[in-house]
Amino acid sequence: MMNAPLFQATSDFHPLVIMDNYNDANLVTLHHGDSCTFLKTIPDESISLVVTSPPYNIGKSYERRQDIGSYLAEQEVVISELVRTLNNRGSICWQTGNYVDEGEVFPLDIFYYQIFKRNGLKLRNRIIWHFEHGLHASKRFSGRYETILWFTKSDDYTFNLDPVRIAAKYPGKRHFKGPNKGQPSGNPLGKNPSDIWEFLYE
Ligand SMILES: C[S@@+](CC[C@H](N)C(=O)[O-])C[C@H]1O[C@@H](n2cnc3c(N)ncnc32)[C@H](O)[C@@H]1O
Repeated sequence: MMNAPLFQATSDFHPLVIMDNYNDANLVTLHHGDSCTFLKTIPDESISLVVTSPPYNIGKSYERRQDIGSYLAEQEVVISELVRTLNNRGSICWQTGNYVDEGEVFPLDIFYYQIFKRNGLKLRNRIIWHFEHGLHASKRFSGRYETILWFTKSDDYTFNLDPVRIAAKYPGKRHFKGPNKGQPSGNPLGKNPSDIWEFLYE
């Protein structure tokens, strides 16, 4: 296996080196290849966060469309490798949409949930992300959301809420009665962004 840098740039602040093969010492590894083969090169419990959007089995150029059972069995091999490489405080964010067969909708996240549970993970959020563009359906409502299943390996997981807080609707709002009367009622750093995310195009 070659381990020469794919890319190297130096700046006054930090040298950026991108490596092709995984090594704990790499700052960035960018591997173009089969996910399962690559995952086998990563040691147990060494990854903190997995964010991925796997193929949906909808016949895109990079996939071979198959029956839903075979598709999920193939993805479970990848998922069990991801779980092996995930550390105890780690998370997996699995983004999918629907697989549609002859007009029948199969919400992939519902099928995936069972696979993650079998692999010992716990769901923390099912995030709905809404978009405004897309195909216009004529025999059902047009699909305008996909989901991200956020699973953790243990109950002692990393979650940094403060850096992702958003502006509160009423930032200066205060308690109007009770022992905290007059005190700010919201978090001064903003509110929790919730499990519904909107991607709007201006
Ligand atoms: C649903 S797309 C995700 C697209 C991505 N979220 C984006 O916004 O560009 C699935 C991706 O998985 C890649 N892929 C499919 N099979 C793969 C495999 N066996 N190993 C690694 N990547 C694979 C495809 O090339 C494609 O980019």
